[in-house]
Amino acid sequence: MDRFAFMIHPIDSSDIARKFSFLKRLPDSILDKIIYHLPPIKVSEITGIKSVYDNAEIIGNFLGCTLTSKQMVELPTDTVIDKIIRTGKIAEKLGAKILGLGAMTSVVGDAGYTVAQNLNIPVTTGNSYTIATAMEGTEKAAEMLDIDIKGAEVLIIGANGSIGSVCAQMMARKCGYLTLVSRDVKKLERLSAKILRETGLAVKISNRPEKAIKKADIIITVTSSVDCVINPEDLKPGALVCDVARPRDVSKRVAELRDDVLIIEGGLVEVPGNVDFNLNFGYPPKLALACMAETMILALEKNWTSYTLGREITIKQADEIHKLGKKHGFKLAGFRSFEKIVKPEVIERVRYFTKQNTKKQFKVKV
Ligand SMILES: NC(=O)c1ccc[n+]([C@@H]2O[C@H](COP(=O)([O-])OP(=O)(O)OC[C@H]3O[C@@H](n4cnc5c(N)ncnc54)[C@H](OP(=O)(O)O)[C@@H]3O)[C@@H](O)[C@H]2O)c1
Repeated sequence: MDRFAFMIHPIDSSDIARKFSFLKRLPDSILDKIIYHLPPIKVSEITGIKSVYDNAEIIGNFLGCTLTSKQMVELPTDTVIDKIIRTGKIAEKLGAKILGLGAMTSVVGDAGYTVAQNLNIPVTTGNSYTIATAMEGTEKAAEMLDIDIKGAEVLIIGANGSIGSVCAQMMARKCGYLTLVSRDVKKLERLSAKILRETGLAVKISNRPEKAIKKADIIITVTSSVDCVINPEDLKPGALVCDVARPRDVSKRVAELRDDVLIIEGGLVEVPGNVDFNLNFGYPPKLALACMAETMILALEKNWTSYTLGREITIKQADEIHKLGKKHGFKLAGFRSFEKIVKPEVIERVRYFTKQNTKKQFKVKV
């Protein structure tokens, strides 16, 4: 049976304290030091993935790169890449034919190129399938809230990134009003010029998220920031936010203070077969992140190539992996928000606020 591997890492020190309860009482600063010195580890074996297309089965492993998100961003890039490569070597030893990079391991440095050059197996970041599922989820949620994408104010935060820039290009083909937010304005200008050339849509750009968030009906947020970029006081009533980032971009306070907006987790999919991850990473059985799923899809397809690397992803790549995912039985999971299922009454309530907004916008135009 073909084997794949997928690399994960602790989001923060509490992830490690949860796994090793004897560490719970230690302060974060000590925990961080322990994590830094821990070697990479084999975390669990993934069994039961079965294609609906040809009944092919694959087996996999979660591998742990022992650095937190903050360490991935703040330590020298070479130090982080070196640990990612050492973790990748475990995949080779286990006989994996492809390695997927999860969370910040796909973000640091050149987004997978150096890692792939230093391993003898193909490597993928999973970002193509993440783009496809983020778009699919956002469109589906907008439809449920009766938001017409064509007439809505759409905002992409982290638009300069590998996922954000393709979401921006895809959204530009569907919406009438698009704003792009990232910190590097020069890069945003280049992206907006490309969009204008290819679609005819003139997009607004900004490096100030708060102002743009206040106006947006639909937001896809996908930054590499370790801090939150969307706070409760920023959002317009009835807004839809698809949060693709890990760690999340939307503050947990939004769940406590704003029941008039819909926040969905982007990039969550149902895996075909009777999958057992032998690891609780916070989702119900059978659900995986899209980046994990991309590695699985490529393994089922016996596509032993580094499918997604770097920050120049194309719409074609996202569309192709989306089709392959459907072929093997991967599908968008039901909506989840802050680790809970989104109940129909939540959609109903937010739809009420969305409608109020539409009326107000109409009045303003008149
Ligand atoms: N859900 C999933 O399945 C899944 C899969 C893969 C990745 N992810 C997550 O998606 C996120 C992005 O990944 P990526 O590969 O696209 O990373 P990336 O290529 O590094 O892009 C992230 C972009 O965010 C922008 N940014 C950073 N901080 C910002 C801030 N405070 N405000 C506005 N923009 C900011 C950066 O542009 P500027 O420098 O111009 O600001 C950067 O280009 C990460 O959190 C990653 O863990 C999730």
